[in-house]
Amino acid sequence: MQKTKLSHIIEIPIIKDEGFLCFAEENKHIPFPIKRFYYILDVDDGAIRGKHAHKETQQVLFCLRGSIKILLDNGSEKEEVFLDKPNQGIFLDKMMWHDMIDFKKDTLLLIIASDIYREEDYIRDYDNFISLIKTL
Ligand code: TYD
Repeated sequence: MQKTKLSHIIEIPIIKDEGFLCFAEENKHIPFPIKRFYYILDVDDGAIRGKHAHKETQQVLFCLRGSIKILLDNGSEKEEVFLDKPNQGIFLDKMMWHDMIDFKKDTLLLIIASDIYREEDYIRDYDNFISLIKTL
């Protein structure tokens, strides 16, 4: 585990054989029971995704191909994390505002989540996020 200013990078095993194989297990490499995964690909140049925080859901985001910049914001500090290795994921804790920027043509993101999809868990308004952070 490699600390960043606001989070940490999770490094999972990578086995080099005929090609590469990476794997991760819940509560070992991924610091929560895994309830869901989803992936994001074919995003247009210049698009910005994310732009939200989660009230409870924790996630780990891997960039399997290409590269991505993740902007983290905990309400008082910001950080930019660059990902371009398939065995390195950024931990996105609950109440961490995040934007994904600088998608490349071949960027493929895999996100592992601690909960199923619930729109009620999203905070999509930044001012609301800041207000909620102040109540913690
Ligand atoms: P969203 O999480 O806002 O995407 P991103 O963070 O990449 O910008 O989700 C985009 C849309 O997809 C939104 O309408 C909700 C839907 N969605 C699901 O139905 N289930 C899911 O597991 C996820 C992640 C999104």
